[in-house]
Amino acid sequence: MRIACVDGDGIGPELMASAREVLAAAAALDGWDVEFGFESGGAGTYLEAGEPLAAGAVERFRGEYDAVLKGPVGLPEVRKADGTEAGVLGGVLRNGLDTYANVRPVRLLPGIRDGADPIDYVIVRENTEGLYLSRGSGVRNERAASDQLLMTRVGVERIVRFAFETARARSGAPKDGVSRVTCVDKSNVLRSFAFFRDIFDEIAAEHPDVEADHRYTDAAAHDLVADPGHFDVLVTENFVGDMLSDLGAATAGGLGMCPSGNIGDDAAYFEPVHGSAPSIAGQDKANPTSQLLTAAMLLDHAGVTGTARRITGAVESAYADGAVRLNPDGTPTCGTRGVTEAVLSRL
Ligand code: NAD
Ligand code: IPM
Ligand code: MN
Repeated sequence: MRIACVDGDGIGPELMASAREVLAAAAALDGWDVEFGFESGGAGTYLEAGEPLAAGAVERFRGEYDAVLKGPVGLPEVRKADGTEAGVLGGVLRNGLDTYANVRPVRLLPGIRDGADPIDYVIVRENTEGLYLSRGSGVRNERAASDQLLMTRVGVERIVRFAFETARARSGAPKDGVSRVTCVDKSNVLRSFAFFRDIFDEIAAEHPDVEADHRYTDAAAHDLVADPGHFDVLVTENFVGDMLSDLGAATAGGLGMCPSGNIGDDAAYFEPVHGSAPSIAGQDKANPTSQLLTAAMLLDHAGVTGTARRITGAVESAYADGAVRLNPDGTPTCGTRGVTEAVLSRL
């Protein structure tokens, strides 16, 4: 398998190095070859080349590689004249590859918070429209600024269908085993979200085997902390999903635990939920678990499910047997290297 690597900024390179080491070792154990190609992307690339992604990379992702693994990109100080960041790739990759489903699993691994209720749900975040479709086209002057939130029928239908199919492939919410999709919206206030909910209800009627559930965004934030075991799959708008996935991460050991996939009908790429964490970069502090579980998601999507399970199992046992422990800020006590070695030795 030929995997394109975008190492990114901040902690990106050290996390990607950890993931490559684990991928290569796991592939060797399962008797297949992995080859890595490198594509430059992020704030560093923007500073060097004036664009945040190497020229032609989107086409190469579609044509020359079997899969794409990305580290976090962006640096808060690297900004465009309009005040937004120059090194992030959401618009370029998510819209460029039409990866409309941002799949963000939140799972509390054994050993992280002993005694806590189980947490195992997936946020299906709409990835190509909603508020973030306004990136680059909002308006601003000295006295006011505006961005627009757009939802289309095609866009809402496909993400809601994706969420129901995701629920069908899982075994239900941890608390009651019920297969459930929760529509998270603000339809009490905004027409766009009322449109989202109406389409959700239409698609839900086609899936009588899965429970259709509703939460307003504010109550969802509360319940994801107060009663996380209720949730199985959540589906929501882009901006809302962005925020709730970081919130969910905080209940599961922090952002360094959380992988994600950007998935479309004919393209996909995989990255951690978090950003480039510049304040801990280059100090062997960052938790590479997010990037390792991201690599496992990539393999699972590519159909290499045995090796995906091998990596996930090694990560889980490193936490379960106490080899990896987390500091209160989410960094591992044994460092990036220590986590990598603990996982390598358990593959
Ligand atoms: P961040 O996710 O980088 O950091 C938030 C907090 O989580 C910080 O305290 C950080 O130290 C911690 N953290 C993040 N990853 C960690 C890990 N693996 N192990 C331990 N701790 C970890 O968010 P931010 O500071 O708001 O953003 C920094 C930069 O990242 C910005 O330029 C932002 O635009 C970018 N960003 C990129 C992506 C992406 O590439 N997908 C996602 C989010 C943010
Ligand atoms: C994420 C990030 C990105 C987003 C930013 C960095 C562009 O927050 O992947 O969660 O827009 O979603
Ligand atoms: Mn985010």
